Amino acid sequence: MRKTIGILCGGGDAPGLNAVIRAVVKYGAGQKGWRIIGVENGFHGLLQTPHRVRELTPVSCRGLLQEGGTILGTTNRGDPFRMADGLDHSEDLVGAMNAWGMEGLVLLGGDGSMRIASGLQAARGVRIVGVPKTIDNDLGATELTFGFQSAVDCATNALDRLHSTAEAHARVQILEVMGRDAGWIALHAGMSGGADCVVLPEIPWTAERLVHKIVERQGLGRPFSLIIVAEGAKPAGEQPGLVISGEKKRAGSAGQRVLEAIELLLPEVEVRLTVLGHLQRGGSPVASDRLLATRFGVAAVDLVEAGRWGEMVCLVNGEVSGAPIATAAATYRRVSPDDPIVRAARAVGIEFGG
Ligand code: F6P
Repeated sequence: MRKTIGILCGGGDAPGLNAVIRAVVKYGAGQKGWRIIGVENGFHGLLQTPHRVRELTPVSCRGLLQEGGTILGTTNRGDPFRMADGLDHSEDLVGAMNAWGMEGLVLLGGDGSMRIASGLQAARGVRIVGVPKTIDNDLGATELTFGFQSAVDCATNALDRLHSTAEAHARVQILEVMGRDAGWIALHAGMSGGADCVVLPEIPWTAERLVHKIVERQGLGRPFSLIIVAEGAKPAGEQPGLVISGEKKRAGSAGQRVLEAIELLLPEVEVRLTVLGHLQRGGSPVASDRLLATRFGVAAVDLVEAGRWGEMVCLVNGEVSGAPIATAAATYRRVSPDDPIVRAARAVGIEFGG
């Protein structure tokens, strides 16, 4: 019988998901002759009736390298231990995998998905190889997740565009980017796009420091400023903002709070806010993400072949290897206030607000 594995995505999408799927299929099915079954909409695909699965072949995966989104669909509400009906369906998942003859799963996901994978392995013995995905680049055990560099590129382009209009109108332009708990996108894009202030969840801000920077620039004949704010940033001594809609809550209003604080102290200055939102997650992956995604997909197949279930592909010192999923799930990567990039940013005059 042909070796059979399933492949699925979990959590929010990120540019490069399709490139990983393509690499796994080209190498696993094309070179090794495995049967690879794509599972749609995360674990849901194996838990609904009929199952939503389909065999993936090198032919069906043609042209995927540069495609955004995911051909399999994904969801961030797909925890088999607590599905929409409130019940634990992890045993049903094992039954569905057995019905399709799946030896194990390749799961493309972020920190939440890796926690689920770790639980499935511990509670039900489900064999999973993880591939780290998230635009936030906040997963433990790996230096880089695919999708991050595309998001940074998108935010950097946005800063470039805001730069010219900020200068034309002598305004303060604020760009809010994703990053609920970790400010990597804001930090990297802020550096690359020449932001004057970078506001991160890890460094609570005060209005006085941000305003000091704006006024200092005015004194140097630069009457405009660019500020990048991660969505999880908070003023010193306060909690991060939340957007509440009915029973749902999500990170938000961080940029608006910075805008209001500046307007209060500098009423004569015009301030504008742009919230970049899901533009950071959509569209084609940049070249470096296509490369990383392809390397990760190949490495996932190698881990499966070596029987190294329970590991997540990772990048350490520029080399692709594997680390226990449990470790990746238990560690979270935040920006340290003395990260070398933060130090370099301060050295070129970037203000962090705290
Ligand atoms: O986890 C990735 C992320 O991009 C976060 O930075 C952001 O808060 C969240 O996804 C938004 O997700 P949703 O698709 O649920 O709006």
